[in-house]
Amino acid sequence: MATLIKHFQIGTRYYSGLSRSVKARKYVLTKYFDGEPKKTDFKIVEEELPELKNGEILTEAEYLSVDPYMRAYMIGYKLPTDMIGGQVAKIIESRNEKFPVGKYVAGSFGWRTHTVCNPSEQPKQIFLPLTLLPELGSYPVSLGLGILGMPGNTSYFGLKEICKPKPGETIVITGAAGAVGSHVGQIGKILGCRVVGFAGTDDKCEYLIKELGFDHAYNYRTSNIKAALKEAAPKRVDCYFDNVGGEISTTIMNHMNHYGRIAVCGSISSYNDSILPKVTILQPAIVFKELKVEGFLVNRWVNRWEEGINANLNWLREGKLKYQERIYHGFDNMVEALNGILRGENTGKAIVKVK
Ligand SMILES: NC(=O)c1ccc[n+]([C@@H]2O[C@H](COP(=O)([O-])OP(=O)(O)OC[C@H]3O[C@@H](n4cnc5c(N)ncnc54)[C@H](OP(=O)(O)O)[C@@H]3O)[C@@H](O)[C@H]2O)c1
Repeated sequence: MATLIKHFQIGTRYYSGLSRSVKARKYVLTKYFDGEPKKTDFKIVEEELPELKNGEILTEAEYLSVDPYMRAYMIGYKLPTDMIGGQVAKIIESRNEKFPVGKYVAGSFGWRTHTVCNPSEQPKQIFLPLTLLPELGSYPVSLGLGILGMPGNTSYFGLKEICKPKPGETIVITGAAGAVGSHVGQIGKILGCRVVGFAGTDDKCEYLIKELGFDHAYNYRTSNIKAALKEAAPKRVDCYFDNVGGEISTTIMNHMNHYGRIAVCGSISSYNDSILPKVTILQPAIVFKELKVEGFLVNRWVNRWEEGINANLNWLREGKLKYQERIYHGFDNMVEALNGILRGENTGKAIVKVK
């Protein structure tokens, strides 16, 4: 591993004075997932990194993200392939004056410890654009993977641009205690809406109501969903932020108001299933209630990325947005962490502290 000796500036370039021959450790997927991801689906390999060219930076990962899309997307890659994923990393060597040594970036570098890249060349398939983290003061840089990163922007743009909630309307959220769901609910409250969440444990529901200000929250494993909706949304549902898919989504869509809006964000209830579940037909509700159902990928708003980050950062500073992190430890525990979110271990954002 590289040793940081000293930083010095030559002209407009910033060098860290690293001893060379930096090796990255990275996860390579060698077998497609079958059910829960397994450690044996991966090999951890070492990769020698090249010297920096003009414009490039070398980063060292501090926090790696585990997100549901990692379970869903790998089937689309030819094996063997480097594992995908976001990370917050420190710049430890730089030949790019806009990205000086010591600053932090968030980027889609994958499950790896060190990365050489040119920030002005964004990869074609981006899950999270490479961005320099704003000054966060006393907030941890790991927020660049949560409320100030991809999940934060998923919540901000998904709710505002697709659900378009108006004050006084009722929003229902599934996966409500996770990174996206807990954030969507808080934005809903900021916008003056009635917010109802469904999550997987009583403790999570208590957190949503007592800490985050949700009006109602129900344990979807133990509640009667129809009865819960009648109680929590007596004027029916105007906006549904769907993180899970499946039968609960059909039930919620049948309880919506005329011209209701549904943001289809994900369908985590089926990500580990090889045979996709069948659910009750949705079209009658969509037609008779004239619902607007729209799926989205957050990178639709890549050109407005900073707007979302700044809005969330302002709300955080104003005390209107709270967060929780479930921190796993160690680069070797990435698979355990990924399975953790698929099993519902997390409240808020799940991340891995590399060292
Ligand atoms: N479209 C986009 O651009 C975009 C971007 C980011 C995320 N997403 C999607 O948004 C959703 C939430 O992502 P996230 O990052 O916020 O993850 P997350 O909610 O922090 O973590 C996943 C949560 O899903 C819940 N879950 C697991 N299995 C479930 C099941 N069978 N039924 C219902 N809930 C289940 C678990 O909570 P419980 O204890 O409540 O079960 C778990 O904590 C996912 O579907 C993800 O794919 C989409």
